[in-house]
Amino acid sequence: MTQNPTDLSGSRNKKLADLLRHGPIVPVITLERVEDAVPLARALVAGGLRLLEITLRTPAAADSAAAIIQDVPEAVVGIGTVLTPNDLERARKLGARYALSPGATPDLLEAASESEMPFIPGIATASELMAALAHGFQTVKFFPAVAAGGIPALKALAGPFPQARFCPTGGIDEKNARDWLALSNVVAVGGSWVCPTSDIRAQAWDEITSKAQRAVVSVKD
Ligand code: 3PG
Repeated sequence: MTQNPTDLSGSRNKKLADLLRHGPIVPVITLERVEDAVPLARALVAGGLRLLEITLRTPAAADSAAAIIQDVPEAVVGIGTVLTPNDLERARKLGARYALSPGATPDLLEAASESEMPFIPGIATASELMAALAHGFQTVKFFPAVAAGGIPALKALAGPFPQARFCPTGGIDEKNARDWLALSNVVAVGGSWVCPTSDIRAQAWDEITSKAQRAVVSVKD
């Protein structure tokens, strides 16, 4: 039976709220080699980070996500850098639990609003946020968070949009993650600082586990 858009939005929001319980830190992961995928995911999970974003930025991305979904059941895998309805469909077929985008084109919002998979569109302005809200997406990525105005920008958006919830990414690190999470409209923060490309290339899994553990400690309480 086809569900109506309001039902879909309600079930997506509920699923997303359940997923976000595994936060509040989301490693933004870019994989160049499929063989790094499973050890990286295990390193992050060992460090206390389960909610992952695998970006569709490399040829290895889709196979990497599939390998993690199959071999690391503790990981809660989302697909990021979803730029088109076709990417969204790829994410769904891979078995991703959710999808994220740095932006929010009309096509993408339309496709995502017809899908059961939770989706976090990206916004950097009030108008983009209004388009996301109009399609039933109350939880959005604020990207590029630091470059787009940082914490003052998000505080300003809280005024006209008290219903919106944000996952800032872009420039978040161990030093400022806690400050972002202190905002009442921030439900999670994302970033690559826990799994930088240099560490992945070096297969420095213990170092990545340490970075993850430090991140968890840095946002405690
Ligand atoms: C993203 O897609 O969210 C960003 O590329 C992550 O930004 P960062 O590398 O500054 O953490």
